[in-house]
Amino acid sequence: LKSMSIEALHSAVRDIPDFPKPGIVFKDITPVLSHPTLFRQAITLLCETAADSPIDKVVGIDARGFIFAAAVADRLNAGFIPIRKAGKLPWKTRGLAYALEYGEATVEIHEDAITPGERVLLVDDLLATGGTAAAAIRLIQGLGGDLVAASFLIELDFLQGRQQLGDVRIESVLRYG
Ligand code: PRP
Ligand code: ADE
Repeated sequence: LKSMSIEALHSAVRDIPDFPKPGIVFKDITPVLSHPTLFRQAITLLCETAADSPIDKVVGIDARGFIFAAAVADRLNAGFIPIRKAGKLPWKTRGLAYALEYGEATVEIHEDAITPGERVLLVDDLLATGGTAAAAIRLIQGLGGDLVAASFLIELDFLQGRQQLGDVRIESVLRYG
């Protein structure tokens, strides 16, 4: 049952106070990953967020996002595209600097990763302030990708990240208010 999976996932996510900085409550997803059925349920629920539309490419964000996005791409018979932290991708890139809940960074995508008009699903483990997802969405749309939705295992509602993402369909499996 879907509500039982969601409850089990909620109880597995672990709160770590003051990581990586004082005042941040870090949502630790490793207990979900290490549990064989919970991880599968997380992937199933993420896939259901986009079940109504065909997807050509699933984009995942370095590093935790890769774990979920790659598994979703496999299930949806879609390609997987990495958005990586600066300096990691070997071919020609487009990049953007952004701020997140506990710092700042630059992300990059290969400029040939998406063909204009391809239907793209963005998947990440967590939506906090929305800085990371906003940068990823700009990179995808900058390559002409048709962003079907941005799907997250966890959304921290109190940080209002979805308000940074403009006119995009935002889906999340677990929400924390
Ligand atoms: C985390 C998380 C999201 C981002 C969300 O990534 O995986 O990508 O922060 O924060 P925001 O909504 O405030 O932008 P992080 O940069 O810590 O990288 P990691 O996956 O390598 O741990
Ligand atoms: N990324 C941004 N904020 C986070 C948080 N509170 N827990 C885990 N990952 C995060």
